[in-house]
Amino acid sequence: MDSGRRIRNLALVGFMGTGKSSVGRLVARHLRFAFIDSDVLIEARLERSIGEIFVEKGEAWFRTYERALVKEFEGYQETVLSTGGGLAASEGNLASLKRHALVICLWASPETIWRRVRRRSHRPLLQVPDPLARIRVLLSERERYYRQADVLINTEWRSAQQVAQQVIHQFRLIGGVGG
Ligand code: S3P
Repeated sequence: MDSGRRIRNLALVGFMGTGKSSVGRLVARHLRFAFIDSDVLIEARLERSIGEIFVEKGEAWFRTYERALVKEFEGYQETVLSTGGGLAASEGNLASLKRHALVICLWASPETIWRRVRRRSHRPLLQVPDPLARIRVLLSERERYYRQADVLINTEWRSAQQVAQQVIHQFRLIGGVGG
């Protein structure tokens, strides 16, 4: 681990449907950390759903807003940050998160992701005729970013509790505090 880093938070990155929010909530409870979900925070501040923001302002605007939020996170402590699926793929965001957080990427195959998200209609990027194909394309475009996380955890065949245990284990390994 780079000695210039001051790890005091935990950040979960990864594609939609990999369980970042459910796992993040469990980990935060266990470590007695605060829990922040970047999408929920953005929706609360703008009083709009992510879908409405994409329609009214566009994706590029949303990414700029996300980047500003990531800068703000640098001042946080003892917080589990669950991030929107595209956040880690925006230039500079991973480097910023790594300054203060252990960055863990949750992974799943396109088929598993589609099985998990298909009944939820709120994700603007999946409002296309062939969402599974879209997931495959986006995932392959983002893979090089996700792979720069400190730890990659495969969530296939694992419950949110099992994934949360692994996340906590990794955090303790690097000497993270809490709980
Ligand atoms: C996005 C993922 C969503 C949300 C927005 C864009 C993406 O978050 O930020 O719809 O680009 O993958 P979740 O990963 O929580 O679904």
